[in-house]
Amino acid sequence: MPNIVVIGAQWGDEGKGRIVDLISENVDIIARYQGGNNAGHTIVIGKEKVVLHHLPSGILRDGKISVIGNGVVIDPGVLLEELKGLRAAGYRADSGNLKISDRAHVIMPYHREIDIARESLSRGNGKIGTTGRGIGPVYEDKAARRGIKFSDLIDPESLRERLSSVLEERNMYLEHVLGRKPLKFEDIFSEYEAYGKELKDFSCDVSSLLNRSISEGKRVLFEGAQGALLDIDLGTYPFVTSSSASSGGACTGTGVSPTRIDLVLGIAKAYATRVGEGPFPSEIEGETGERLRKAGGEYGATTGRSRRCGWFDSVALRYAAMTNGISRLAITKLDVLSGFDAIKVCVGYRYRGKLLGEFPSNINILKDCEPVYEEIEGWKEDISSVTDFGELPAHARNYIRRLEQLTGVTIYAVSLGASREKILFLSDLFQ
Ligand code: IMP
Repeated sequence: MPNIVVIGAQWGDEGKGRIVDLISENVDIIARYQGGNNAGHTIVIGKEKVVLHHLPSGILRDGKISVIGNGVVIDPGVLLEELKGLRAAGYRADSGNLKISDRAHVIMPYHREIDIARESLSRGNGKIGTTGRGIGPVYEDKAARRGIKFSDLIDPESLRERLSSVLEERNMYLEHVLGRKPLKFEDIFSEYEAYGKELKDFSCDVSSLLNRSISEGKRVLFEGAQGALLDIDLGTYPFVTSSSASSGGACTGTGVSPTRIDLVLGIAKAYATRVGEGPFPSEIEGETGERLRKAGGEYGATTGRSRRCGWFDSVALRYAAMTNGISRLAITKLDVLSGFDAIKVCVGYRYRGKLLGEFPSNINILKDCEPVYEEIEGWKEDISSVTDFGELPAHARNYIRRLEQLTGVTIYAVSLGASREKILFLSDLFQ
């Protein structure tokens, strides 16, 4: 199997973790390339549920190498807890099967403070509804060239030098702009120096490792976090995360060129969800939205927040497919739609009386778009134990085939629940 990027094709929480976990059986290396512990990838194995925040979902597979690329941001305290939890659950998570890019940036306490303070101070349109993990501020520092990298974290001298040059300025911002208490150098330094010691052995030149491995014929799966519509450049800005959640991020976030990637697999729910603020044209308010939320367990794996629920939006999906080169789709959670008399799919937007067939690049237009729906007949049967696509009720099959037509992307698989075996394959990934 060649090298593949797996990304969320909506606003995150599509169930990427379970699909990556599945495909990773057939690859050698699984590489996360962006985001940080704003992500929460839930994987169910037997009766066990594992939630991963930094670690690639492939860490749960024996004999694989997991990689955290340079595009990821790391909260070392959280990462260490995650590693401890995995080991306690009987999984291997040491420097033999996990490599962390020495170029990845580190989330510092002031990043979290700034993120939380800003969100609590903002009102109305200024509020993004972030996860409060410091993601925006750490990427800001990266772009402003005042970031602290993993290579600094594991070298006390470098950590001291970088932190002392950055903290004064960040403290001024915290104190005088956000009205918070300044943070103490020695507290941060001693905490982070200790993290650095514990994590030192994981440090790796990830770009060299991946390129060398690909040249040797090894197969790499690049694992995206969040989703295409939360991408900093191509998402619904400013209601996005601060990293490159698109497939292009796999290259900049690992140091592997686009010529070495063979396929992009998009993951989408059979409906749509969004957490936090921002336009969501096919959002369903009221009872039906609540019904979907309950049936789908739509509460965040990281923050526990209720997710906003809506119908599948084929306009947004076509846009995601175009900007990410998605040539295969996996549709998750089809079972959640069982019992609806009719299921809607958004097939266009109406903006000031005009019909738009394409996803607008201007957020001021997007926020005033009204969805145009097509109704598809639903099915009543519980489909959660179906094992073959052909055994699904005819209306469920019609629904999937209609999504394929509307998005223009071949459907590779449909999942009917969280556990590993609840998946139906419709096509080969590479043919
Ligand atoms: P941040 O990434 O914490 O800065 O949050 C920015 C936006 O991205 C907010 O709307 C979050 O709810 C959303 N977001 C961040 N990570 C995830 C995720 O893993 N799933 C879904 N939404 C996310």
